[in-house]
Amino acid sequence: MTTDPLDAYWSRNFTWGVSTSSYQIEGAAKEDGRGPSIWDTRCLMKGRVANGDTGDVACDHYHRYKEDIALMKEIGVGAYRFSVAWPRLLPRGRGAANAAGLDFYDRLIDALLAAGVEPWLCLYHWDLPQALDDLGGWTNRECAGWFADYATLVARRYGDRVKRFATFNEFSVFTLFGYAIDWGAPGITDRQAHLKAIHHTNLAHGLGVETIRTLVPGASIGAIHNRQRILPETDTPENRTAAALLDAHWNTAFPDPQIRGHYPALLADAIEPYVEAGDMARICRPIDWFGLNHYGPIFAKAEPKAIWGYAWGKTPDEAPKSDIGWPVFPQLFRDELIEITRRYRLPIYVTENGAGGEDRPDAKGGYEDKSRIAYLQAHIGAMHEAIEAGADVGGYFVWSLLDNFEWGSGYSVRFGLVHVDFATGKRTPKASARWYAGLLRRARGG
Ligand code: NOJ
Repeated sequence: MTTDPLDAYWSRNFTWGVSTSSYQIEGAAKEDGRGPSIWDTRCLMKGRVANGDTGDVACDHYHRYKEDIALMKEIGVGAYRFSVAWPRLLPRGRGAANAAGLDFYDRLIDALLAAGVEPWLCLYHWDLPQALDDLGGWTNRECAGWFADYATLVARRYGDRVKRFATFNEFSVFTLFGYAIDWGAPGITDRQAHLKAIHHTNLAHGLGVETIRTLVPGASIGAIHNRQRILPETDTPENRTAAALLDAHWNTAFPDPQIRGHYPALLADAIEPYVEAGDMARICRPIDWFGLNHYGPIFAKAEPKAIWGYAWGKTPDEAPKSDIGWPVFPQLFRDELIEITRRYRLPIYVTENGAGGEDRPDAKGGYEDKSRIAYLQAHIGAMHEAIEAGADVGGYFVWSLLDNFEWGSGYSVRFGLVHVDFATGKRTPKASARWYAGLLRRARGG
């Protein structure tokens, strides 16, 4: 590469940030009137979360948010993507709002702005109020309306200070894992429930966009999709068919209707019974950016006993892998960025990218997470190549600022630039935090 990759970014006013989510970091699960979410419930179910871990305390960000913002400043990020916990604002999912919950995000947003860090607010990162799940959750069409009311509350309360809004984080992960595979809350395994959840979250997205657009002047609205190549584990016709259906559920079931106005061909007939007149226009509202969460490709295989006939396959032995065994193919990240620009014609913000590990301390108590640095460096390089090839990328956020509650893996897997001792809450920046800080200094021309 002849040019310094960073030249392209700071001259274009590129956004550099870090991401987190409410359930994964906040803790204070039973404090100040927060209601239970479907993840609180799942954590109590035997065998669903490693070591029986829960989000009850997590990183205790609810009390330590000032310290966390100081860490953001130290790293030098310009933006912070977080999510609001719906059950903190509306403990029963709808109806009366919880003043203490509303106040918490006021404090957080004000402190971010005072620190010069732009808040990027995501409305839904998987913590559906349990009271709504009791009414069917995303399988109930009414859930789209409940979401729109919640979005209205958020837009009215914070829209004077927050301009960047994402409706949902990773639609396909929580609908597939939550309603077809039982890898996530609420843990239903039913084809029709899965199809309904897909359509109703698409509808909720559209209604959410509409209310934010109406209520927040100057809002910049996006949705966050996980998109990654689905490759057949081995190249057989059965595995190819399996990979194609997973690709439809994973990669296109949400951005296609939201941005192009129709479901992908492989899903259209199955979803049809749930689509009412006018729905596609409600779903396909103009948005401003495409949020991409990307980690690496998935290898899929045919599995006749599985609900949709596919299953996660084995990553080839020779494939490069992260410390937790996820395949690492930066060139496929470059290809995705180019493909998204071609297919959706929207500016892309990489809202998550990062690597998991165990991150054990060295003799001096430091965390020299070299493989995370190598991963981030390779992916930022691939992003630069994509930009040079014409991809429209406006920003990049590392997942994650902090080690946190990694869903079914509990606290056994760490993604943070900053280490968290979950017994004491102590934060220790890792080598990757210093590396990212250095990169951002150079990006600012410093
Ligand atoms: C995607 C999710 O949005 C986030 O919650 C999760 O922790 C990371 N990927 C890592 O798995």
